[in-house]
This record gives sequence, structure tokens and C-alpha cells, in this order.
Amino acid sequence: MNNFKGKKILLIICGGIAAYKSLEIIRLLKKNGSFVKTILTKNAKKFITPLSVASLSQEKVYSDLFDHKNESEMDHISLSRWSDLILIAPATANTIAKISYGMADDLASTIVLAANKNIFLAPAMNVRMWEHISNKENIKKLKNFGYKIIGPEIGDMACGEFGEGKMTEPQSILNFLNNYFESTKKKNKYKALVTAGPTHEYIDPVRYISNRSSGKQGYEIAKSLKKNGFDTTLISGPTNLEPIPEVNLIKVRSAEEMYNATLENLPVDVAIFSAAVSDYKVKNKENEKIKKKDFMNLNLEKNPDILANISKHNSLRPKIVIGFAAETNNLNKNSKKKLSEKNCDWIIANNVSDKSIGFDSDFNEVSIFYKNNSIEKIPKMKKSLLADQIVSKVIYYLN
Ligand code: C5P
Repeated sequence: MNNFKGKKILLIICGGIAAYKSLEIIRLLKKNGSFVKTILTKNAKKFITPLSVASLSQEKVYSDLFDHKNESEMDHISLSRWSDLILIAPATANTIAKISYGMADDLASTIVLAANKNIFLAPAMNVRMWEHISNKENIKKLKNFGYKIIGPEIGDMACGEFGEGKMTEPQSILNFLNNYFESTKKKNKYKALVTAGPTHEYIDPVRYISNRSSGKQGYEIAKSLKKNGFDTTLISGPTNLEPIPEVNLIKVRSAEEMYNATLENLPVDVAIFSAAVSDYKVKNKENEKIKKKDFMNLNLEKNPDILANISKHNSLRPKIVIGFAAETNNLNKNSKKKLSEKNCDWIIANNVSDKSIGFDSDFNEVSIFYKNNSIEKIPKMKKSLLADQIVSKVIYYLN
């Protein structure tokens, strides 16, 4: 087991009798070379002491959300950003419920809500609590969020009852995490290419034809692919967005440059074409600024359709080709048409006539049209969350 070396684990310990086993989790993580920062909920401190946690982790223990000293050193956002993954063990019914409802009334729940990392929970509770419909619903929600649930196991409980609800043993939790690290290493063998943003089709040195695309959705997809271990290339038209660490960013301006950059960066396993590519370019781009009257004589010619060309490519077609469709009307009909005409595997369609989503918004609401004729409606959500959902579907499809 050597996937833990140098890994940064943020361990959240909740208030349950199984909290004593978390000390063993810390010991094992440290023994395997990880860095461990720990958060104790208020109730966890009734079961184990911050001193024993600090001694084992050799790190300061965090607990309060409004602790000036801790917050100025490392706040709840930085704690989540610091980590490679977040493990909640034991995860009590109470914390599970809070997280499933997006509550943020203490440091632990606030960190989870603010997290941009994969979250693992090892639940521990009485068998009746575990089987309660309300807890089951909460767990289902967490699974849908993409959180990974480890256990619980069946056995004798501290309360004297028998059944499902025992926290998974520390060594087995580590095995689970080890497998996860192993699978992300494997995923690295997957290559992804994303196009994003608008294109600028120059008329002369100062004017161009373009559109309102912000590039946000494509950048979020590239970020999520990277987070999930893909070797990711992002080919971006002009945007105001920051480069993403460890993503190979290629900046282009025109559709033609985007097409050439795409061809140069194949083959890949998955290609996601989220760019709003201009359909036309100016036939004879002028080197000098043109006069007003010359606008009437502009000649346009078609740009290469990057998505269609790559999707129909004999030798370089990626395993999954995903296109986007921004429509103001006839969303279903046009998306299905695009799916077949451009030979892609999925078309992700959004209705851009709704001003609160699409374009410059941080939110999006889409339907995914699959090759097998099925359609999946995804409710309105942050573009970053939607990106995670798209990427988890891609991973499912690739494996
Ligand atoms: O035909 P339409 O422009 O609506 O298709 C949108 C989809 O096709 C998007 O995925 C977009 O990135 C892609 N596209 C492309 N090259 C073009 C035009 C569109 O890759 N020239």
C-alpha cells in the first residue's frame, strides 16, 4: 500500500462511539506517509480528545468555525483546498443529514459545502438509525452528489444491538482509499480534449465577428476532468478566465486556429466540444482597417465544423465525442438532428433563451441527448457541479 505517500487527507471526526477508531485511521495514514489534518465536531470532542488527535496527526486540530486564530491561519476554504480528499469517519446520522441538506452550521459541514475535493464517508450508527427511511434518503442524495460511502458493516454494536451500522474497520477504510488513489492513477492514462469559449473571426485588425460565450462551462469541464485524473488539454477561444493548474491550455482566436490546435492534440479518449465556434469567417480579411462603406461588401465563407470533422474522422475519432447545442427554440428537434448529422455520442443542449442560465451565468440547465435515443434532463445547477456530473458519466462510459 504505497498510494498514501505525500497525500493530504482532511479527516472529519463526528461524535459517535466509533470516533475512537479514527485515532487508528490517523495512525495508519501517518504510517503510510500521508499528511493528516483533522476536524473534530463539537460532539466528537466528547468521545476523543483534541490532544490525542493532535499527538497522532502531529498537526493542529480544528474545531470551531468562528475561531479567529485558526481562521486567520487556515480558514475553512483553505482547509478544503489543502487536501487531496476529505474523509468523514465516523459519519453520524446527524452530519449525514446536515450535509444532504447543504447546512453549514459548524466547521465540518461548512468545509464539506465549500469543498472542491472528493468526499468519502464511513457512516457509523445504530442499526435502526441506519435503516431509517430518512437516513436512507439522505445517503441516496449523497451518492447522487458523487460522495463515496464506505460501509457500514454488519455486526455487534456498541449499544448492544446487532445489525448494519458498524463503522468499517480502519484498515479496510484505508484499503478503500488506496483503491481510489490507484484508480485515479489509472485514469491518468485517459486523455481528454475540451474546446471552450467563443472564436473571433477578424474582419480587419480591429473588428471581428463573435458571440456571447464566456467559456465558463468548458473551463469547468476541463477542471473536473483534471480533478478526476484525466490528462487534459483545453483549447480556448478568447475569454477572461484564468488558466487551470495542470491543464494544458492552448489559446486560439479563430475557428481555423481552434481546428488546427484540435487536430494537433489528437488522439484523445474523450473530446468535449463546448466552444461556440463562429459558423462563418470573413473571406478576405483586410490588413488595414476597412471603411464603413466596405461593410456592405463583406464576403463570408464557412468555417470548418470542428466537432463534425473530428467525429467523422476515420482514424482519430475519440472514444467519446460530445457536442453542445445552444438553442433558443426547437431544442429537442435541433439537438437530435445535430446528434446524428455531426455523428457525436452525446449532445448536451441548453436553452439559451432563459437569461438566468447559459452564456455568462454561473448556472446551466441542460438535457443530454444520447446516441441510443434516450434523453436525460438535468436540473438547473452550478456549471461546476454540472461539469462534475458530465465527467462522472464520461468515466462510467469509458470503464
Ligand atoms: O451547429 P452548431 O454550431 O449549433 O453546433 C454546436 C456544436 O458544434 C458545439 O459542440 C460546437 O462546439 C461545435 N462546433 C464546432 N465547429 C463549428 C461549429 C460548431 O466544433 N464550426
